Amino acid sequence: MATVLAVETSCDETAVAIVNDRNVLSNVVASQIDIHRQYGGVVPEVASRQHLAAINNCIDRALREAKMDWQAIDGIGATCAPGLMGALLVGVTAAKALAMLYDKPFLGIHHLEGHIYATYLSEPELQPPFLCLLVSGGHTSLIRVQGCGQYEMLGRTRDDAAGEAFDKVARLLKLGYPGGPVIDKLAKQGNPQAFSLPEGRISLPDGGYHPYDSSFSGLKTAMLRLVQKLEKERDVLPLEDLAASFQETVARSLVKKTLACALDCDLKTIAVGGGVAANSRLRECLKAAAQSHQLQVYFPPLKFCTDNAAMIACAAADRLSRGYASPLSLKVESQLAVTRVEELYKREVDRGLP
Ligand code: KG4
Ligand code: ZN
Repeated sequence: MATVLAVETSCDETAVAIVNDRNVLSNVVASQIDIHRQYGGVVPEVASRQHLAAINNCIDRALREAKMDWQAIDGIGATCAPGLMGALLVGVTAAKALAMLYDKPFLGIHHLEGHIYATYLSEPELQPPFLCLLVSGGHTSLIRVQGCGQYEMLGRTRDDAAGEAFDKVARLLKLGYPGGPVIDKLAKQGNPQAFSLPEGRISLPDGGYHPYDSSFSGLKTAMLRLVQKLEKERDVLPLEDLAASFQETVARSLVKKTLACALDCDLKTIAVGGGVAANSRLRECLKAAAQSHQLQVYFPPLKFCTDNAAMIACAAADRLSRGYASPLSLKVESQLAVTRVEELYKREVDRGLP
């Protein structure tokens, strides 16, 4: 069992957490959403500066909340890929500096591996294999988890991520940023059958459709055309019905693909993560569909679905217990497939240590 302090700065949350194995000892998140809201989305340069301003305070708070000092920390982790380069650099540089100063191992963690580990925090008994549906502002992925570092990407989006689609449609409807929570709330008063919208499908060269890949750009365009048409016909847009119909289409598409993937791959457990996992309709539909096929589905609490450092620390603690550490020369990467995660480490055996 290892105790790790980890830093997450891949996008617009400055987060620091301390985790022992799968137990969260402190979990600090300083969100930048209010700052980026005025621009209608995340501005990378602004995000880096905010991380820099917030990080020291977040580290102090994480130690204080856990009532710990550096002596009790076995290793220091940081998200090193994928994400905004400048933002990642702030967290990784801080973690490396602390690792050098306190003579602790440093672990660079893949952001998606962190999201996979998030479910362990609320389900400490969960063991692979399982299917991870990761739906956030940057990802829509179906990942087969066979064990630590054993990930197979079974489905992905060909264009926008699910959260990105919520954000873009919210902007179209002038609902502000981030779009997911506002659409979710409005949709509760709307009719999900009011408008028929296309579920994105990816054609295969030999006919038929890709069973697990998603596409949301067609749906986004259909929403744009529908709004343009309605604006000509009416004085006021039926925002509730538009939100409910859009949300229903996204939820239906994700549930269909996730279920097909779990059943085809004979995976009995589904772990959902990322900000879109907060969506009430997705939760309802996926729970019902899983139940009717005798599958188990876990939605971690929202604080572990959206970006946080506890999930990064949990992955780092597991890696450390298995003898992994990253070289201090490790670089940050804006893109890195989760299947290449082993490249981030040198195991003790590789370093010539017992
Ligand atoms: O995981 P996350 O916090 O950050 C990324 O790694 O992207 O996800 C943020 C995304 C945003 O696109 C936001 O609109 C979406 O998650 N989101 C939601 C809901 N809450 C947040 N989407 C749909 N329904 C929600 N209730
Ligand atoms: Zn994320």
